[in-house]
Amino acid sequence: MRFEGVDVWARRAAYVADFLPSRLLVKGASEAFAPANIALCKYWGKRDAVLNLPVNGSLSISLGALGTRTCLFRADQDEMVLNGRALLPEDKVFRRTFAFVDLFRQGLDVPLRIESVNSVATAAGLASSASAFAALVLALNDFFTLDLSRERLSALARLGSGSAARSLWQGFVRWDRGIKADGSDSFARVLPSSWQALRVALLEVDFTEKAVGSSEGMQHTVKTSPLFASWEDCATRDLEAMEEAVLGCDFDRLGALAEGNMLAMHATMMAARPALFYLKSASFALLERVRALRAEGLSFFCTADAGANVKLLYLAKDEDLVLKFFPSAVLVNPFVAVDG
Ligand code: PMV
Repeated sequence: MRFEGVDVWARRAAYVADFLPSRLLVKGASEAFAPANIALCKYWGKRDAVLNLPVNGSLSISLGALGTRTCLFRADQDEMVLNGRALLPEDKVFRRTFAFVDLFRQGLDVPLRIESVNSVATAAGLASSASAFAALVLALNDFFTLDLSRERLSALARLGSGSAARSLWQGFVRWDRGIKADGSDSFARVLPSSWQALRVALLEVDFTEKAVGSSEGMQHTVKTSPLFASWEDCATRDLEAMEEAVLGCDFDRLGALAEGNMLAMHATMMAARPALFYLKSASFALLERVRALRAEGLSFFCTADAGANVKLLYLAKDEDLVLKFFPSAVLVNPFVAVDG
């Protein structure tokens, strides 16, 4: 694959080679879990599309037990089973996954069987690629005995999907944009917060696969939206303010910042030419409903990614109210501990 005259995979392979030992020690099997994450301050726009380097830093909350569990086994040929279904080698997910694995194999003849189970809907704005690549990187770290730190693994997961850089931890995670052209300073870290009251409710609008992938949507927005420069400034300010709100356990401030940031991101894409819409009329109806409930005194806020589904942010003490107003909501405790 070439992008603007550059061989994408050759450049990625050179980047990954810097993280690997001179000789790989291969195990027979490995297993890892990574949580999905929802950005409160969004990543939207790449300064380098090959190394997935973002224009702005971002901040997320993990989705606890919702995520991806991946097992790797030595096999006679490359195979992949996703959610119990064997994928054909020409399948898009199969190709994207093994192109990523090849970055680690570095030409070594080690065929793998990958078994992956996603507990989040694939490619419907619920960050399934984030947990998928984070779990894969953790499993590869173990399989090839790499012994890399979480920050180094974050900088590798980023190549699979930018938001995967934030899926290496439970809790609040900040991914700094970095300034170096080689990408070595663009990785995530977990915030030192012991605040565990935040909850997320998933409000389903549409779980079908989105028409425009996030990479394509970002590139289109960067190139054509007249609002992009202000998005960059807005996200940069929001990131600092959100970290303060997290460390100060200030839910109303964090919620207002997250909702404002999400609206700014969607406004920026809607201003792209031609316009890019991920939210649907049912998503807007939910945003309005939450604003109306807030006007009545409830502490509810919304966010939404590159998809139509809406996520409600609330405090654990308000769970009954969430179920009263949104009976079909899926409630998520971001801080649940999960093995492996
Ligand atoms: O990681 P990607 O390429 O799927 O992009 C994620 C984009 C958003 O979900 C909209 C924002 C974010 O920070 O997760």
